[in-house]
Amino acid sequence: MGHENTRNKRGSGTGAAAGRTLSRRLGAVTLPPFAQARRSGKGCMVKIVYVEPAGRLREVEVKDGWSAMEGAVRNGVEGIVAECGGTCSCATCHVYVDEPTYARLPPPDDIESAMLAATAAERRPTSRLSCQIRASESIAGIRLQIPERQY
Ligand code: FES
Repeated sequence: MGHENTRNKRGSGTGAAAGRTLSRRLGAVTLPPFAQARRSGKGCMVKIVYVEPAGRLREVEVKDGWSAMEGAVRNGVEGIVAECGGTCSCATCHVYVDEPTYARLPPPDDIESAMLAATAAERRPTSRLSCQIRASESIAGIRLQIPERQY
């Protein structure tokens, strides 16, 4: 009993108390929006339409802040391999974004641009890596065509 109280006072316990203690130690830590939505569990759902390589349409509700790749993999959408698990180092999550939504996405950074040069399927003007597309209200209804191959 006394041991547990000592642990909590030191901030090495678990749950909200430990989180508050950690916040005090680190000062104000601002998490990116996708992490906040995950932590709070209050994130909304964002509709993403995937077009599988064989042409089947899949409408999936993806949690705000997840990547489009995560939404596909967790819902059994075919054609997204995501070999690297979303670290932008494999290019096996290549998709073609519908043009209107493509214009609303933040542009690919240098690493993603370099990886897009190494996709197995043809690179098009609206090519993106789905692990770099964050689900948010601003892209609700995005349509992602999955190319015929990722290798
Ligand atoms: S999952 Fe590997 S680059 Fe997107």
